[in-house]
Amino acid sequence: MSGSEADRRIPNQHARTRSRMSIDEKTSKTLKDLGAKSPEAIGELFAGVTSALESERKALIASGAGDERERSQKVKDLRDRWLARKGGLVSLIDENWLKKAPKELKPAVGRAFNQLRQLAKCVDTESLLRELSGGAAAAQPAAVAATRGARPSAKQGRLDLTLPGYRQPLGSIHPVTQVMREIEDIFLGLGFSIESGPEIESVYYNFDALNIPESHPARDDWDTLYVNSETVLRTHTSPVQIRAMEKHGAPLYILCPGKAYRHDNPDSTHATMFHQVEGLAVDTDISFADLKGTLDYFARKFFGDKIKTNFTPSFFPFTEPSGELSISCVFCGGGGCRICKDSGWIEVMGCGMVHPEVLRHGGIDPERYSGWAFGLGVERFAMMKYDINDIQLFHQGDVRFLEQF
Ligand code: DAH
Repeated sequence: MSGSEADRRIPNQHARTRSRMSIDEKTSKTLKDLGAKSPEAIGELFAGVTSALESERKALIASGAGDERERSQKVKDLRDRWLARKGGLVSLIDENWLKKAPKELKPAVGRAFNQLRQLAKCVDTESLLRELSGGAAAAQPAAVAATRGARPSAKQGRLDLTLPGYRQPLGSIHPVTQVMREIEDIFLGLGFSIESGPEIESVYYNFDALNIPESHPARDDWDTLYVNSETVLRTHTSPVQIRAMEKHGAPLYILCPGKAYRHDNPDSTHATMFHQVEGLAVDTDISFADLKGTLDYFARKFFGDKIKTNFTPSFFPFTEPSGELSISCVFCGGGGCRICKDSGWIEVMGCGMVHPEVLRHGGIDPERYSGWAFGLGVERFAMMKYDINDIQLFHQGDVRFLEQF
């Protein structure tokens, strides 16, 4: 046998061995172990994977729906088999084939891998459940189902115009928005209305009108992002209190949800942009008892009837007296844990009786009217409600996090 004949025979032997291997065996080996040295051999390998994917998906659909538990389990198994981040077949192919591919084969492997990743979307939980729960979509070849919106080419088979259209996956409402709306709903039920104000705010509304003059050391409590010497990115939603008083006068029952900005270093509890909800009630005969009663009602509506509330004295320049509302720890029930630092209580918002000077700045006569106010951090509420330990997750736009809500 001449040398060149031998060279030709070796790949064929490999090809034969490869074709006898299961998909699991193949994906646990490198391309070198599999003897796949040419773009053709790579193409053939990936074609094998695609057809395995297709037939496993078809087998699942053909196996019938079963009851709901059985259905979800089957779907989860197939999804995990292919898409699990650790040990899923697609990940293994990434690790063993793509990452370890010799340089000259990388482009071919990369291209084929990307196509496979697109196709593998047809075994995600949502599309499988949709197909299992009936619908002619089950009859679509995976290639078509996976490339929603893309037209099947002539190669993928004839175009069947009787098939249902391709559905775009539905998004969901961001958890911060959900929590904000939940808070709004509770207060709307109490007769409050919603107000908003600008995020780029004047120093006057953000500080001076709230009884925080330039000389006041409390200005340093807010790590302010200045646009220029008279303009800031609002550090809290409290300036809307003044704007609303100016606009509507008293009596006034408002809620101001919105964004606030601070020059904080991002970490698990700080973000440069975050959300607050501000509340303000101004009327004749408003007392601290109204504040306590309303906030206790709100906290129990939001966190559940079992929680207890506690008010402790605090300081804010725009309220007098000022307080901090704490709730019994939602994680340990008040017994003491790492999250409540063994105190059994978690501080959830600042509040107090509106300072007469603030009423005056809003054009309201403090001799006639009094008021109470509060301000809370929405991300913080969402973190407590859903047991989330990193505020950054809300703002990274990672679908794997967001789709859980
Ligand atoms: N604006 C305060 C902050 O951002 C929160 C706050 C405290 C608002 C007490 C209020 C209040 O209306 O009464 O830290």
